[in-house]
Amino acid sequence: MTGEELEPILRLEGLTLRYGALTAVDHVDLSIREGARHALIGPNGAGKSSLFSVVAGAVRATEGRVILGGKDISSLNESGRARVGLVRTFQHSSLFLGVSVLDNVRLAVERAHGRPKRPWPMPRTDRVITEKAMSHLGAVGLVDRCNALCGALSHGERRQLEVAMVLACDPRLVLFDEPTAGMSAAETQRFSELVESLPAEITTVVVEHDLDVVFRLADRVSVLAAGRLIADGSPDEVRADAAVKEAYLGKPRSAEPLFGGIS
Ligand SMILES: Nc1ncnc2c1ncn2[C@@H]1O[C@H](COP(=O)(O)OP(=O)(O)OP(=O)(O)O)[C@@H](O)[C@H]1O
Ligand SMILES: [Mg+2]
Repeated sequence: MTGEELEPILRLEGLTLRYGALTAVDHVDLSIREGARHALIGPNGAGKSSLFSVVAGAVRATEGRVILGGKDISSLNESGRARVGLVRTFQHSSLFLGVSVLDNVRLAVERAHGRPKRPWPMPRTDRVITEKAMSHLGAVGLVDRCNALCGALSHGERRQLEVAMVLACDPRLVLFDEPTAGMSAAETQRFSELVESLPAEITTVVVEHDLDVVFRLADRVSVLAAGRLIADGSPDEVRADAAVKEAYLGKPRSAEPLFGGIS
């Protein structure tokens, strides 16, 4: 194996974020393999969203470095990082509720290719953009909703649409922060299948409280507690880890299965 093959898609070196006296992310060293389905878990307030904010470039690290595909991107802001393929899922506010599902994705495709925004309604003449947008809608299972107004979509469908808009950025690495929050069981199932079905070359990191989803989706799990990385390994290794049990349960209970019915 060459050194290049060994280079992870994302490497965090001593990543630290302090809010005044509070250290939300505490010297985190972490490598994420290209193509991984990686999950980041930890109790409330562990620093998971803070870590994502620093990795995505929304907040500047107090200390440490973020390295994407071997390149130090620590000095890039959020849009600079998106341009080199590191994308965090959009918030709902980035969806235009009053226009169609297809036009939302067309706009994301145009933005990703650096085209100027056009006034609504958008001319339908640019077939290349429309075809790309339709293929992204196909990837997330929303083709038959392409003409619906975005505002008419269910909560789960909006999340699917956000993924289509992320795909428009040609991402190498996508960060999902609690994507299934507020979803029904059926929506959660559909969304998990969608993340699983993304092209293998797109690496995903998911912060998720539903540990059934985590252990179904992830091939690697990292655990944060009080800003520190306390475990990082295969789902089985993490499930068996005494420090992880302690962080979740407050005290070691090595004889008991952790995380619901999964033992
Ligand atoms: N903007 C901020 N200013 C000050 N403190 C913050 C800020 N954002 C988060 N914190 C604090 O940083 C710590 C980590 O919070 P963070 O939201 O990253 O945790 P989390 O693991 O995402 O939690 P949850 O599972 O509840 O989403 C918490 O103590 C939180 O109160
Ligand atoms: Mg959070």
